[in-house]
Amino acid sequence: MKDKIKNVKSLEELQKMYSDTFGKNGTMTAKLKNMAGLSNEERSIINAENAELRQLFKEKQNELEMVALNAKLATEYVDVTLDVEPQNRGTFHPLTQSLKEIGSVLESLGFTMWVGPEIEDDWHNFTALNTPEYHPARDMQDSFFLENGNVMRTQTSSIQIRAMEKVGVPIKMFGVGRTYRKEWDATHAPMFGQIEGLYIDKNVTITDLVATMRALLSKFFERDIQLRIRPSYFPFTEPSIEMDMKWGDRWLEICGAGMVHPNVLKNCNINPNEYQGFAFGFGWDRMAMLKYNLNDIRPIYDGDIRWLKNNGF
Ligand code: PHE
Repeated sequence: MKDKIKNVKSLEELQKMYSDTFGKNGTMTAKLKNMAGLSNEERSIINAENAELRQLFKEKQNELEMVALNAKLATEYVDVTLDVEPQNRGTFHPLTQSLKEIGSVLESLGFTMWVGPEIEDDWHNFTALNTPEYHPARDMQDSFFLENGNVMRTQTSSIQIRAMEKVGVPIKMFGVGRTYRKEWDATHAPMFGQIEGLYIDKNVTITDLVATMRALLSKFFERDIQLRIRPSYFPFTEPSIEMDMKWGDRWLEICGAGMVHPNVLKNCNINPNEYQGFAFGFGWDRMAMLKYNLNDIRPIYDGDIRWLKNNGF
């Protein structure tokens, strides 16, 4: 028996021999079962044999496992010369990437991110923003109205109203989201992204607005940005301005902005004699297009991986 164990060549064979010996109908099991009528001397012989065999099996098993492991180590190895770059690594979409970058600059300036509903009611999209019922900015040509009188949010300014209603002043926030207007060409899509900032407190001036925009744009575009200010009109700001940014040898219109109109503050139960502040808004996709040199807004929403790859994503 002992020699037989020593000469076993495989783990399977050893396993079989083990169960023939110690299994339910094994030879050793039978011996141990029938010890009742035996003398002490005979019993201790059987017990010793039992212990010795178990020990031998164990040693043989260790030995065979070691042989198997060594064989495996000899044939399986890591080829450190293989290319470790996966073929198809996921990346962030340019819109996601630009939001992460713009958001982190605004957060570093103390603004908190808010979102709001894309289907808006009249109050938040227009009325509270000092855009009464017959105001031309509500033009049917531009807005997608729903049958119940709600509207697909035309601007993220609605988020600012919701934020002021909810937490009051002082407030320093930015709203982010998709907005909807009836337009469709290389630089205008019927659904586009907007980001709007709002800062209301007791001593906020238009200088803070210009400084904030310059800091935001310089950080985002990673260069010193020169700004130009033009007077403009929005129902919800007074004075209203538009800002252009020097881009190469051209001036590009980059955002609408202004000091929040006293009527807007009143609509949100804020006393305009005590509090004032600025708001600004820009097309978030346009920012991404400029930064990443994309010249058509439409493929941004197609999700075509070939287009993304061709553009470095
Ligand atoms: N909501 C304006 C737009 O959609 C942009 C804007 C935001 C202007 C805040 C002034 C202040 O064009």
